[in-house]
Amino acid sequence: MVDGEQLQRLVREAGLEDDPEAQQLLKAAAETENQHLRNQIRKKLEQKAAKKTQQPFNENPPQNSALNSIYLGQTHNQDKVYTLKEDELTQHILTTGQTGSGKTTLFYNVMTQLSSPFWAFDRKQDYRHLTNQMDDLLVLPWKKLKLNPLKPPPGVNPDRWVNIFSLLFSQSFGLLTGSEGFLTVATVKIYLKYNLYQEQPDSYPTIYDLANIIRSDEIPVGKASVGYKDRTYWRLNPILMTVGEMFNYSEGYTIEDLMQRNVVFEIGGLNRKFQRFIQQILFAYVYEYLLAQGMRDQGLQLAVFADEAKQLFSVYLEKQTASGMPEMDDMMGKARQMGLAVVAADQEPTKLTDSLKANTKTKILLPVADQKQFQAIAESMNLDRRQSDYAQRLDTGEAVIQAGNSEPVPVDLLNYQVKQDVTDEKLREHQQEKWQELEYVERDIKGNYYSNSSGKNSTTLDDF
Ligand SMILES: Nc1ncnc2c1ncn2[C@@H]1O[C@H](COP(=O)(O)OP(=O)(O)OP(=O)(O)O)[C@@H](O)[C@H]1O
Ligand SMILES: [Mg+2]
Repeated sequence: MVDGEQLQRLVREAGLEDDPEAQQLLKAAAETENQHLRNQIRKKLEQKAAKKTQQPFNENPPQNSALNSIYLGQTHNQDKVYTLKEDELTQHILTTGQTGSGKTTLFYNVMTQLSSPFWAFDRKQDYRHLTNQMDDLLVLPWKKLKLNPLKPPPGVNPDRWVNIFSLLFSQSFGLLTGSEGFLTVATVKIYLKYNLYQEQPDSYPTIYDLANIIRSDEIPVGKASVGYKDRTYWRLNPILMTVGEMFNYSEGYTIEDLMQRNVVFEIGGLNRKFQRFIQQILFAYVYEYLLAQGMRDQGLQLAVFADEAKQLFSVYLEKQTASGMPEMDDMMGKARQMGLAVVAADQEPTKLTDSLKANTKTKILLPVADQKQFQAIAESMNLDRRQSDYAQRLDTGEAVIQAGNSEPVPVDLLNYQVKQDVTDEKLREHQQEKWQELEYVERDIKGNYYSNSSGKNSTTLDDF
């Protein structure tokens, strides 16, 4: 006797609920009284279930033409080519994998195949080694960076930039609403002093000038706001005392030019708040610039690679921000039209924002042993139980890739070997000329201020 419930359980346990053939067989079994036929249906379903257990995936990789597509590897069982369209990067990629699982190797692969420029935010000096293969790669150790976060991108209204700067600064350095407001007012004041609201200002204030105006009596404070003033000043001052030199320019390197080339920003060694601030302000600059230029739907402009993506897309910030989504996530949701791609990786998906998980079309799962971490990502990939079992047994360089609404596919990722021999010395030799060619404009002090806010010379950064 074969009863219908038995068959349904079989289908359910094998993860065949969405299989049209299995559903047809179930229907046929329900509609017949013929025991012989029911037996045959059961056998057929058992065969399907056994097959599904061995191969929990339909290996149907996306069909892309070789032109402008990135080769990631071969499907695990059927050895089919797995590629990603380059333009699809603008819908963002999220890679998760524990340490040593192959995240950086995957990034090497994608970077070296891209025809559009990329930036990498690098904390571990991983990508400098690519200078062995890519002669035009620009590597910027943070000590070589010159950046004025107070200079609005071309075409961007200064008031808009004031708000973005204040918000990102406050988020990165932990200023709450009142102090953020104070920072905004101070920034507007210093913008006025430098005539930023005119068509062509002759120079831009730096955060030294900002710290000075905060310290001065030019912004009247009452009993309540004196605390804001203090807190804001004490977020800025330690920056000036430590890494201020990086920001001590009327105009830093021309970011619009950097966007046209492959750049590695080495931010390791900086404290995490700075790392976050630098990544966020650069991303915001590019986003706002492309938005202001009206760059819409023109394909991939720049791919930004961010390892340890939780720095940029932190669930803690998501929970903290009363308005809901932190600025970064908001920008990322809209970045697609601007051709700005995020290729993110992290070991701990539980610490990533929900909107990052929701806003990344392609998810690449590498080995993740920790159950909690695994569940966090398996859920957002809609893996069924068998696929999930399989994914928990992945080896280094093996992945399950899921793009959009397509079914997940197991892929053996391409290995990429790069000689890890670029020391500081070798880097300097290779990059010296490139560094010297980068243009910047010295600080222009307007007003009766100290040359830097502490009176002490800030650390010299020439010792790289
Ligand atoms: N696709 C691959 N095929 C074969 N071996 C690989 C592959 N990817 C990575 N490996 C091996 O695993 C090692 C670690 O890889 P990788 O540095 O990319 O890991 P990771 O996830 O970036 O680690 P971490 O989190 O520590 O930075 C590599 O040196 C390489 O030997
Ligand atoms: Mg790595």
